[in-house]
Formats: sequence, C-alpha cells, structure tokens
Amino acid sequence: MPVVQGAAKTTRFFDRIAPWYDRINAQIYKRPWLERVRSEIQGMRVLDVGVGTGYTTGNLATSVGMDLSREMLKRARYRGHLIRADLMHPPFRAETFDTLVFAGSFYYLPSPYEGTKIVADLLRPGGRVLILSPATQLLAPFVRVYRPGDYRRFMEGARLRIVHYERLNWAACLVIAEKPNA
Ligand SMILES: C[S@@+](CC[C@H](N)C(=O)[O-])C[C@H]1O[C@@H](n2cnc3c(N)ncnc32)[C@H](O)[C@@H]1O
Repeated sequence: MPVVQGAAKTTRFFDRIAPWYDRINAQIYKRPWLERVRSEIQGMRVLDVGVGTGYTTGNLATSVGMDLSREMLKRARYRGHLIRADLMHPPFRAETFDTLVFAGSFYYLPSPYEGTKIVADLLRPGGRVLILSPATQLLAPFVRVYRPGDYRRFMEGARLRIVHYERLNWAACLVIAEKPNA
C-alpha cells in the first residue's frame, strides 16, 4: 500500500517536502522526459494538474497550474495562472482545456476512474491528456504503479482513447489519451 494517499495526506506530504522539492526533482525527473511531455502539449488552453513548483509547464504563458499544496505553489516559477484546487473538485467549466498534463501526479488521485472521468469532462472534443508516471512495480511500495491495462480501463471508462503508451526508461512511462470528436 503506498504511503501517500488521499487529498489531505498528499497536501501534508507536499507541504512538508516543498522546501527541498526542486532538489529532489532534479535527481528524478529526467530532462528528456520534460522535453517529451512538452512536445506533446497541444493548443493554448493547458491545465497542469499537480503543477508543483511549475517545472513542466512553467514556460507557457497560457497554461493554468493547479495544485493541492500551498507550499508547492508558493515556490512555483510560472508564467501562466496558478490556482490551489483539487482535480477531484475542479473549479472549471466542462470542455475548457485542449490539453491536461499530469507530470508525476495522476497516481495520487484517490480514484483513477473518477479522476479520469473528470479529465474527460474538462477536455474539449479532440483534446488530450498526458500522463507521466512511474512504470515499474519496484516503486509500488511508495506510489501507485499502474500497468498499461489499467490505463486502458480508466480511459475506456471515461470514453477516452489511448493514442500512445511509451516506456521512457525502466522507471517511467508516458500515456497519451484523446477525447474523440463528437
Ligand atoms: C510529484 S509532484 C509533481 C509536480 C510537478 N508536476 C513536477 O513534475 O515537478 C505531485 C504534485 O501533485 C499534487 N497533487 C496530487 N494530487 C492532486 C490533486 N488531486 N489535485 C491537485 N494537485 C494534486 C501534489 O500536491 C504535488 O505538488
């Protein structure tokens, strides 16, 4: 069972590690992964869920960065708009975004099925969700690790279509799913 689960524990965990987050992240989040994720962002209206300190989308003036943790947001370097909110209760209208990004945050959602339905609701038809996540079961004692079949089930349950699954190295994967045009 992973150590950090649910909004309250996740918020406390990231509030606590926020002062060291960038130094820890520099050891874990590989530069080519960042470039890969950025290369897949489409459209102007981007929502970065679990934006943290802004590492993935901080360069985009039109993006919205959302996070549970006030301490992470306080440290964010971000050109776009930052908001403290929970993806499970999003303060946005349906079909607002072209791209949703989860860089190291999807596996903290309390219910991936419910979370994916919320993602589908927030995306415009033709829009995409990008998920950068752990892919090896070696990390399962610390975080939830989903297999390709899990992602397929989450996406199908929300009527999203996986268009790409890529192992980035032994530890991480990138999942891309699309909301079909009506
Ligand atoms: C590992 S950090 C990733 C930060 C950033 N995306 C990066 O790549 O550096 C995960 C972040 O997701 C946030 N988070 C987790 N669950 C969330 C939720 N339900 N809604 C909003 N943010 C969430 C946490 O507070 C944390 O800041």
